[in-house]
Amino acid sequence: MTYNIKSMAVIGVGIMGSGIAQIAAQSGHTTYLYDAKAGAAEQAKEQLAATFQKLVDKNKITAEQAATANSHLIVAQQIEDLKDCDLIIEAIVERLDIKQSLMQQLEEVVSENTILASNTSSLSITAIAANCKKPERVVGYHFFNPVPLMKVVEVIRGLKTDPLIIDALNSLSRAFGHRPVVAKDTPGFIINHAGRAYGTEALKILNENVCDISEIDRILRDGVGFRMGPFELMDLTGLDVSHPVMESIYHQYYEEARYKPNPLTKQMLEAKQLGRKVNQGFYNYETGSKTGEQPAKFVDRLAQYPKVWVAADFSDDKKQLEDYLTQQNIALDTGSAPQSDSLCLLACYGEDTTQAAIRLGVNPEQAVAIDMLYGIAKHRTLMPSLVTKADYRQAAHSIFNLDGNTVSMIAESIGFVAQRVLAMVINLGCDIAQQNIATVDDINAAVRLGLGYPFGPIEWGDQVGRQKILLILNRITALTHDPRYRPSPWLQRRVTLNLPLTFTHES
Ligand code: NAI
Repeated sequence: MTYNIKSMAVIGVGIMGSGIAQIAAQSGHTTYLYDAKAGAAEQAKEQLAATFQKLVDKNKITAEQAATANSHLIVAQQIEDLKDCDLIIEAIVERLDIKQSLMQQLEEVVSENTILASNTSSLSITAIAANCKKPERVVGYHFFNPVPLMKVVEVIRGLKTDPLIIDALNSLSRAFGHRPVVAKDTPGFIINHAGRAYGTEALKILNENVCDISEIDRILRDGVGFRMGPFELMDLTGLDVSHPVMESIYHQYYEEARYKPNPLTKQMLEAKQLGRKVNQGFYNYETGSKTGEQPAKFVDRLAQYPKVWVAADFSDDKKQLEDYLTQQNIALDTGSAPQSDSLCLLACYGEDTTQAAIRLGVNPEQAVAIDMLYGIAKHRTLMPSLVTKADYRQAAHSIFNLDGNTVSMIAESIGFVAQRVLAMVINLGCDIAQQNIATVDDINAAVRLGLGYPFGPIEWGDQVGRQKILLILNRITALTHDPRYRPSPWLQRRVTLNLPLTFTHES
């Protein structure tokens, strides 16, 4: 049987339901609005009319388009009014028992072919469908807030969902102007699952006292290219939202180490230090904008610099560093072993400076490591060892300020900051592919559109170098014995065969 969706309904017209009704009406679908709260559907219809008028005022749509969109919205007084709808999307309170009984109630009213969709962000679609007579008609349809602007939607396949319903919702999403991504019914689906690495690894780095929040945000925002640093992002989302998601996914995956939350956010939640919404999170917002970010420290040009001896795990990094040093008129020590007064610059992966110095047979007192994973075009991360002499630290800091770019000087961390965070993001994306939760294309698109990362995790791995990512994870795992960092078989296999991480059997 085929599904042709012309008329639909939204049940629960709060933040999400109203947004879904907006895009449905704007794309020409008759859309019923129903809410358990008396007057809520009428109010939502009025608010949507005001929204359409605003769009007319901003020349985003014509007055005629607004009138048409308004004419597509119908207030339903009772659930029986929805009997002829082809699709019903529920966006009611996030409670399994209430969603289950709503689905059962709807089955008594609607036709055999009506699709029943849930906008749940954290409940299992299979569980929501469990008490239905026809669980194959139940599907997840997970939009993001604000719905008209977040142009991605997850279409979630419950254990019993009819595959033709997935096709129908994919077409409908495109008619809405959204990119559908299809996910297996698993905790966090794609986007909330793939988003677990960024914040949790940043918190772990903070917890290890590697550097402060300003430096972590600066490295990941200004160096790596995330739109916001992890702490800025947690402040924006609010810990009342993000901490429970971290805990929920961790527990739903039976305490999988990759998703382990951090006690710090629990404590901040208890102290109601939630973020922007209360003017205090990791940063302060009492003035209306963010305060408390410490500026990057600059070290002026020195009268004299030591020679620099460069060692790198990868030859492209060595060349990039030697070119930069030559441009800045810094003398190179090109001996096979460093002279006793040279600064030893170590472009290593997945290690701290102490480990790298010992591996390379270099005196740790002369060593400063540099994170080359994201290159040196913008912000740079330097990491002295526990015993690096102050003169060498100063010299290294100054050298990488010489062209006006900023430097983060961090304490020893097995895998710096960017390497750890990016390797975790990429590895998690690979593991989502390995678990067959979604296709590579859908994982990449979901993360770009849903999380706003500059690249999808799997394509990002190929871009920064999949061998580098595997080396980071293998070394961190060997040094920390923490299963959190174990490389996904998806990543290992493709690196071993020298295939792109995006490679699949079909490609
Ligand atoms: P909301 O609180 O803004 O709106 C919920 C609406 O549902 C209210 O108008 C309420 O009166 C109505 N309602 C509650 N129980 C009902 C019932 N039994 N029958 C009919 N109407 C009922 O909630 P929001 O934020 O729009 O969330 C709705 C759903 O969407 C939840 O499942 C949530 O997890 C999910 N979601 C929320 C996102 C968000 O950012 N707020 C993002 C993605 C999904």
